Amino acid sequence: MRTLPLLPALCMCLAVAQGIIPAPQHISYNPAEPLPPLPQVEGAYTLRYDARKGEWEVDARDDAGRRHAAITAAALVRENGGTPPPHVAVCDYPRYAWRGLHLDVSRHFFPPEVVREYIDRMAELKLNRLHLHLTDGPGWRIEIKKYPRLTSFAAWRKDLGVEDWDWPSIQIGPNHPKVEGGFYTQDEMRALVQYARGRGIMIVPEIDMPGHSYAAIAAYPEIGRADFPQMGLRGGDVLDTANPRSLEFAKDVLTELMQVFPEGTPIHLGGDEVPPQFATPRQQRDWMQQLVDFCREHGREAIVWDEAATNGVQRQTTMVWHASGTESLFQSGAPLILCPCSHFYFDYRPAEDDPGTVPAVITLEKVFGYTVPQGNIRGLQANLWTEHITTRERLFHMAFPRAAALSERAWGSPRRPFADFLRDLRLLYN
Ligand code: ACM
Repeated sequence: MRTLPLLPALCMCLAVAQGIIPAPQHISYNPAEPLPPLPQVEGAYTLRYDARKGEWEVDARDDAGRRHAAITAAALVRENGGTPPPHVAVCDYPRYAWRGLHLDVSRHFFPPEVVREYIDRMAELKLNRLHLHLTDGPGWRIEIKKYPRLTSFAAWRKDLGVEDWDWPSIQIGPNHPKVEGGFYTQDEMRALVQYARGRGIMIVPEIDMPGHSYAAIAAYPEIGRADFPQMGLRGGDVLDTANPRSLEFAKDVLTELMQVFPEGTPIHLGGDEVPPQFATPRQQRDWMQQLVDFCREHGREAIVWDEAATNGVQRQTTMVWHASGTESLFQSGAPLILCPCSHFYFDYRPAEDDPGTVPAVITLEKVFGYTVPQGNIRGLQANLWTEHITTRERLFHMAFPRAAALSERAWGSPRRPFADFLRDLRLLYN
């Protein structure tokens, strides 16, 4: 057991962390009860307040564990009205390695300062992965030096409102007065990666391919299907998987991405929602497999949406967003990150009386009530698609506090009454 200089980290947390969320695996206020041994898990910690010495004692395997301990200590102080409780001992560890929140910056762009705030809010909840959906039909958001039109052209559009993104009508230069959009330069993204890393969060980039590629095709029509000249978001927004130039494009983009995101960062390749008339299942599978293998050859783990995995793509980690029809993936033993749209789609309204324009509702209680199914589960994630989210205020309203309930499930906290969670939530966000 080491006594650590917790104060700087603690001061940082005191401003934000108040209730204990996610609830620790083990907590005791009985001084006679021995502290369990430190679990051998990344991010684990033990924490005890020694009232005689007036010191916190922390044991942790890594920076993540020390950070978690500091957040918990701050919560205990807050819960006790501003001073440490006379006796308290915590032994805690995350059950799942991936505790993620996603952010779609393609449908609507959010600048680095908003992403930093999002990261801060994630960190106080002990979440550790930010999945950035960097590309989609309505906008390309990361500088790729070999393909400058991706950001000089396809990152900007006329502001015609939500889901009205047909490129012939929205295309516009960045200096037009009614422009909407933006992108991250590679240096800005490196700075964001560092910022997040300092708070225990890995930013995981997604380039969504071969579908959801309307912006890329608008910038470089030769990678789209020449036989579908009337491209549209509900039509052919799919790269031409039969054309070697589209594979070359994808590999070029991934190569630059690997120079921005440090070793050890997985790359999400997309693979969702490709209508078979634009690429047959076999074409899709072979194309995606080449990209998965390309990532692996470069020492990177690849991630795909579940459609690609059910279509036979292998050797990747799969993000399961469908709430049903994916049983074979659970049986396969291959690693899964679960973000089912039944519980973890935070673009759905948080309450029936919420004035948002997406019909579906997922309440805080529903998120909190999620039960993790059996399988090789690497972790949980909530997704925040931004078709209908145009402001920072709306973004945070949709993400929080539901992300707190996600974190409790992703941490694998012991089950507790929803009312107890709500009490801690009030302390945390009052
Ligand atoms: C998705 O919602 N298309 C991953």
